[in-house]
Amino acid sequence: MNSQVENIHPQYEKILSKGEKERLLQQRGKVVWLTGLSGAGKTTIANLLELELYKRGFVTQILDGDIIRSGINNNLGFSVDEREENIRRVAEVSKLLVHCGIICLNSFISPTKEIRDKAKKIIGEKNFIEVFVNTSLAVCEQRDVKGLYKKAREGKIKNFTGIDSPYEKPENPDLILNSDNMTIEESVDKCIEYLLPIISYKE
Ligand code: ADX
Repeated sequence: MNSQVENIHPQYEKILSKGEKERLLQQRGKVVWLTGLSGAGKTTIANLLELELYKRGFVTQILDGDIIRSGINNNLGFSVDEREENIRRVAEVSKLLVHCGIICLNSFISPTKEIRDKAKKIIGEKNFIEVFVNTSLAVCEQRDVKGLYKKAREGKIKNFTGIDSPYEKPENPDLILNSDNMTIEESVDKCIEYLLPIISYKE
C-alpha cells in the first residue's frame, strides 16, 4: 500500500474479524432460532439452555419476543408487516452479536417460512440454526400461561397466532423438539447435544 492510501485508510481502521473474536471467546458465534406457537415453551427452553451453556463456558445472549417487544420493538404490533419488521430488526441485532462471537438464543413465534427465511438471509445460512418447538395448539391453549388464547377466542385479541393468524411449521428445521411428549430438560439436552460440536472452538 502506498503511503497516500495508508493515510486515508490507516491500519487501525480495520475492524476485527468474527474469527478473531471467536478465538478470544473460544466459541463459535451462532443464532439458535426457536420458532413455535405462543406458549410452546420457547422462552423456558432458551432460559435453561442459556444456563446449561453457561455452565459449559459459553457466552450467550437471549433475545425474546416479549422482552424485545417491550423495548427496542415497542412500536410494533402483530400485523404481517409488523411481525416482519420485528423479525428483521432482531435478525440485524443478532448479526452484530454473532460477528462478536456470541451465541444468540432467539425465541420468536416467527410464524411464516418467508419471515424465517428473511432472518436466515440477514444472519447468514451457516450461522442460523432453526429449532422448531413443536408443541400442538391444543397443548398451548390448554396451558394458556398468559391467558391470551382465552382472550383471542373471545375476540378480545385480534390476529392471534394459531387462532386467527397463521403459523406455518418449518419444513426442514435443523432440530425438532416434540415438546408435547418431552420435558424441558429433555428438550434442552437434545439442544446441547446438537449444539456442542457446532459452537465449540477448534482452530
Ligand atoms: S412474532 O410473530 O413477531 O414472531 P413474537 O415472538 O415477537 O411474535 O411475540 C409473541 C408474543 O407476543 C406472544 O408470546 C404473546 O405473549 C404476545 N402476543 C400478543 N399479541 C399476540 C398476537 N396477536 N399473536 C401472537 N402473540 C401475541
